Amino acid sequence: MKFVLSLAEPKQKHRAEELLLTNHCVFEGNPSLDAKLTLDEFGLGIHEPNMWNQPAFYVDFTSMDIRTGAGNISRKQPLARAVGRQSEKILDLTAGFGSDASLLAGMGYLVDARERHPIVYALLQDALDRTAQHPVYAEIVAERIRLQHQEANSVGPSFLRAFDAVYVDPMYPPKKSKAAPPRRAQILQYLAGKDLDQDDLIRWVRTHAKRTVVKRPRQAPPTLEEAPHHQVESKLVRWDVWLNQSSST
Ligand SMILES: C[S@@+](CC[C@H](N)C(=O)[O-])C[C@H]1O[C@@H](n2cnc3c(N)ncnc32)[C@H](O)[C@@H]1O
Repeated sequence: MKFVLSLAEPKQKHRAEELLLTNHCVFEGNPSLDAKLTLDEFGLGIHEPNMWNQPAFYVDFTSMDIRTGAGNISRKQPLARAVGRQSEKILDLTAGFGSDASLLAGMGYLVDARERHPIVYALLQDALDRTAQHPVYAEIVAERIRLQHQEANSVGPSFLRAFDAVYVDPMYPPKKSKAAPPRRAQILQYLAGKDLDQDDLIRWVRTHAKRTVVKRPRQAPPTLEEAPHHQVESKLVRWDVWLNQSSST
């Protein structure tokens, strides 16, 4: 699979370099086979193969629901119960398009995030940079998330222990449902594919982290042979939680 980079103006080459795109893209390709990345005044967008003439997909946090109370970013939400309501620092090792990271940031957690796929990373980093310019969402989302393009297991065990919770949400096989998944999920599946090493990653995190939180579809089989210490559920999702020290809540 190739990624064809289209720059609206030559001056955007510098921005492409900042987003670490230049090593992973070509400048010409086949519209039926390749994805196109457009970098323009608005930001970095992606067109799937056969959709080069359609509007690009952008990661965007500036229309996120940020009502407090019982809303999306309340610490009463199951996501907050999974990472621990009293926690402060969360390491998200599978950032994807940052939906969970942005919710955690909105709840007031400080999120350090890692993403290994270069295009997923670039789309998310660009969205965070744009959010950092926004009068409202900069403080609520962008200033609380730090993203790096990195393989999760290269962070090291002592780094894992520096966080109140380490969050893992690996790719899961697409559901056999008649309804097409949303475009963002389809693009993530197209880019990241299957995380075939997810069991190793989860075991490694479980060994070293104070609190390991793994997100699964609600009906998924057990994540590890060792039963989780807690499970938190929402309508569609289950979070399995393991603790390595009694101080985690
Ligand atoms: C299901 S998505 C995560 C979705 C994310 N939680 C969100 O809310 O948007 C999984 C992501 O984790 C990344 N990933 C999987 N294993 C990884 C690893 N070992 N290191 C870094 N990133 C990884 C994949 O490239 C993919 O983008």
